Amino acid sequence: MIVSLSAYEESAAGRNNVLFTNQKPMSLSSKSSDLKRRMQEALRGGGDKAIQKQKATGKLTARERIIALLDAKSFHEYDLFVEHAGRDFEMSDKYLPGDGVITGTGTINNYPVCIFAQDFTVAGGSLGYMHAKKITKIMDHAMKLKIPLIGINDSGGARIQEGVNSLAGYGEIFYRNTQASGVIPQISVILGPCAGGAVYSPALTDFVFVVDKISKMFITGPEVIKTVLGEEISMEELGGARVQAEITGNVHFFAESEIECFEQIKKLCSFIPWNNLKKADPFPKKPPRIRQYSLDKVFPTNPRQPYDVKDVIRGICDDSDFLEVMDLFAQNIVIGFARMNGYTVGFVANQPLVLAGVLDVDSSDKAARFIRYCDAFSIPLVTLVDLPGYLPGVDQEHAGVIRHGAKVLYAYSEATVPKITVITRKAYGGGYIAMCSSHLRADFVFAWPTAEIAVMGPEGAANIIFRNEIKEAENPDEMRKLKIKEYKEKFANPFVAAAYGYVDAVISPEETRDMVIHALAISADKKVDVPLKKHGIPPF
Ligand code: HXC
Repeated sequence: MIVSLSAYEESAAGRNNVLFTNQKPMSLSSKSSDLKRRMQEALRGGGDKAIQKQKATGKLTARERIIALLDAKSFHEYDLFVEHAGRDFEMSDKYLPGDGVITGTGTINNYPVCIFAQDFTVAGGSLGYMHAKKITKIMDHAMKLKIPLIGINDSGGARIQEGVNSLAGYGEIFYRNTQASGVIPQISVILGPCAGGAVYSPALTDFVFVVDKISKMFITGPEVIKTVLGEEISMEELGGARVQAEITGNVHFFAESEIECFEQIKKLCSFIPWNNLKKADPFPKKPPRIRQYSLDKVFPTNPRQPYDVKDVIRGICDDSDFLEVMDLFAQNIVIGFARMNGYTVGFVANQPLVLAGVLDVDSSDKAARFIRYCDAFSIPLVTLVDLPGYLPGVDQEHAGVIRHGAKVLYAYSEATVPKITVITRKAYGGGYIAMCSSHLRADFVFAWPTAEIAVMGPEGAANIIFRNEIKEAENPDEMRKLKIKEYKEKFANPFVAAAYGYVDAVISPEETRDMVIHALAISADKKVDVPLKKHGIPPF
């Protein structure tokens, strides 16, 4: 028999009536105590045993999580009495409080948010039809009210007993995730073993948070892998928090505990605007904590010595307060939020400490997505450049470095927010162009006197263009050194690019903060005409 979705809902509502109609007319006070009784029943979630099991794995319950994350006493819950709509596999006899998900509104830093938290104690937080309806309803509120949506995921995925209606529920969620993308911030928190659809929805959202030992994400779990492929692997090794944060790049923030995770979310919320029509609230401006992050100290005099670009960011931004995003993944590029003169900016910086800061498949993906996030939410971009280019090698070529690397070109070219670039040292070849050069429409490009802007590094370049002179010289090594020096003097500096106007100003490192703040201020109301089109076709 084919059951229409509306009939399905009626069946759920009908069963509620059966459950609760066995009563005589009641006075107001007995109605109130009846309400209390029903609430207590629903608030018990999956019951003491399931809650104990949840706690034994170091997890908070779904309601505790919401309370811990939101401002004190701000949470208001809706749809507490929603009942599941399953009828097969003896589901009609089962009572699943709230159908395994808690939804509501509250505030973070005094600003409103919509939130849902799946309750693993109720049928493993699995997503049935009414469970999905609760989530899509709160998503619709978030879109209508133009406020962020936070989803706490702790779910075994599609509720197997509800078949295609569970899949329909996921489809409705994915559609809304996509419609909401770039309109309201969508934040996902993975706080349990999340399988199937329970990880695809987070993958469509802006920021995914995980907690060590608690979060596990996979499309198919170890059991299925063993059955299909005969491979044995633990949940932790397959899709644990660390794997997701370091290897897959599926997540953006890694925490040691749930409470630390909630602090990270609150911190992120302090930097981002509440929707795409607003700007993030300015904070009181503060100078960097110079003593610790003086650029003189953190930037090496030896041009071959690596340094930590995060110290350079902290040497420039307000209060040296930098919130790094995806800090464990593709560490050759650093992305994150900070403030300049009180206003949120997104930093994108090559990290000379890791792989000399090259762009490769993973760092390109990481940077491109962040650039698009900032652009969608009107967050200006500050780019710090020091890289020898794209990473050469068979692995990278076969992994599609062309396609992935092109994402950076696309994302920067497409972005219409203020774009300020500072070249601190190496800016070679494709790396120079990709890292928000003036050609991709940076509004202002500044270079330190230590900048080297060229097609490639002096050693490589000398070996190619002076190959014959070096080969035919009496002393090839001496000749090579001479030619490298000659090339360095001619090209490994910022002045050739400055002579063509590709660099707007060569500045001393101490001037950087002032120059960037000024450039951001005068670009604040920037308007860019973009060709009329439905949307572009980026290389992903
Ligand atoms: C119905 C489920 C369920 C599910 C868990 N439960 N997942 N019920 N549908 N998908 C129930 C269990 O039966 C159990 O009920 C309770 O939740 C707790 O589960 P346990 O297995 O005891 O917990 P644990 O050992 O911690 O293992 C958690 C788990 C495992 C790894 C998530 O339950 C699991 O592998 N579940 C199935 C995962 C899965 O394959 N989901 C479908 C994905 S497909 P009782 O009554 O015993 O307490 C999908 C399609 C969408 O999502 C794809 C979109 C693209």
